[in-house]
Amino acid sequence: MSGELTVIVLAAGGGTRMRSKTMKVLHPVAGRSMVGHVLAAVQEVQPRRIVAVVGHQRDQVGPHIHELVPDALLAVQEEQHGTGHAVRIAIEAVTAQGETPEGTVLVAYGDTPLLEAESLRRFAAEHEAAQRAVSILSGRLDDPHGYGRVIRNGEGEVEAIVEEKDATEEQRAIHEINSGILAFDATFLVDALPRLRNDNAKGEYYLTDTVHLAREAGLHVGAHEIDDVLQTEGVNDRVQLARTGRVMNDRIVTRWMQEGVTVMDPATTWIDADVVLRADVTVLPGVQLLGTTVVDEDAVIGPDTTLKDCEIGAGARVIRTHGELAVIGTGASVGPFAYLRPGTTLGTDGKIGTFVETKNAQLGDGAKVPHLSYVGDAEVGEGTNIGAGTIFANYDGVEKNRTVVGRHAKTGANNTFVAPVTIGDGAGTAGGTVVRRNVPPGALAVSGGPQRNLERWALSKRAGTPQADAAAAALDGVEQSD
Ligand code: UD1
Ligand code: CA
Repeated sequence: MSGELTVIVLAAGGGTRMRSKTMKVLHPVAGRSMVGHVLAAVQEVQPRRIVAVVGHQRDQVGPHIHELVPDALLAVQEEQHGTGHAVRIAIEAVTAQGETPEGTVLVAYGDTPLLEAESLRRFAAEHEAAQRAVSILSGRLDDPHGYGRVIRNGEGEVEAIVEEKDATEEQRAIHEINSGILAFDATFLVDALPRLRNDNAKGEYYLTDTVHLAREAGLHVGAHEIDDVLQTEGVNDRVQLARTGRVMNDRIVTRWMQEGVTVMDPATTWIDADVVLRADVTVLPGVQLLGTTVVDEDAVIGPDTTLKDCEIGAGARVIRTHGELAVIGTGASVGPFAYLRPGTTLGTDGKIGTFVETKNAQLGDGAKVPHLSYVGDAEVGEGTNIGAGTIFANYDGVEKNRTVVGRHAKTGANNTFVAPVTIGDGAGTAGGTVVRRNVPPGALAVSGGPQRNLERWALSKRAGTPQADAAAAALDGVEQSD
């Protein structure tokens, strides 16, 4: 692009059809707000400045935009008097800074998350090359209802955009619509905006009336038809939100497959926009990879797994797992049916097995918690094996306490570690141990007393029950065979 580019993103409208406490443009699609997607596309085009027009719930929308694009200029539109009014306020925000927009001004909406940077770039470049006062990114729709129609004259030149409510029967039959994305010569726009009037069906200042003004002044106007109209589709309600989400997901999943990821069932695989997958990752059916999750090469995820903000090492295997803010080492194995809570880290070749819940737990290389356990607020050293059914009792009813298990320890089945407690390197515990005191390195902890068998107990205390009968039959057999 040759000249200076200013992009104005309109995000002041209320979005009432969403019927939501949350402002429309803040609703997420693929883990990112709708306006976040638009801003990402806009930033890729590298404009001189980005101006966002905010109004409804601007106390939420403004800070969100600033967090994503710290140097975006926020223009406040207190009352929404139309797209022309919104753009005027954006231009005023620029001039208030002592600057004058030059070159091209591009207008986009904050509720079109599928818009791609490449489309914007091509549109702006074509606008500049044709030296137009106004360019319209238009589209052809089977059902153009609700959109502004592109009116062309006998030579096919664009004469005007007429809004649905102001259109004649004949004009409503036109299928070429204004997507809402417009490009302007900055000088023309600055001059035209104060001349817009609101004597129309909606009583609004239509940005689209600039087309007519340009034609009156004998300036060039043109429309560039976009093939993929979905890109400019605004989300107005939750039905469109879901449909847009599906299209976005399809795009993301397709891109990862092209990058060398095997996705067995794209229809049941959901990947957020900011997830990173490396080559030869395999994703099995029913997987959600969310937030900023990163999966390294050769890892196999799924089936039926949700990972949010997790890091999965190369060659790791994660089966039927729900995880959040967990880091899984190279070659490690997780699940089936594991619940990884924030602060879980598992070393190289480690294992968090079946029906295991972990939280704020650092497990070393080769450490294993294979079955039916809760590991909370704990450190488990490398090569240590935690017996089946072990509970790290981290909560004394008042405070959370930490358990430290050293390296190459072997703890028995069905243990309880009452925190705070430390089990030394190379130590062991017997089955059923309740560890309340520290275990020195190399020691074996045994907490239960010697086993006592009360002979023939079932026969006297449970007489007449199947239990007693079974015991009697067995004892009979034993006595006979004696
Ligand atoms: C607008 C276009 C129409 C086009 C359609 C595409 C105008 C007059 N009409 O119509 O030609 O086919 O978009 O979707 O431009 N906004 C503000 N401040 C305002 C008014 C709107 O920020 O005062 C924002 C809204 O939040 C929204 C966008 O501008 O993101 C479009 O506004 P909306 O009222 O939805 O315009 P449409 O009537 O759909
Ligand atoms: Ca709209």
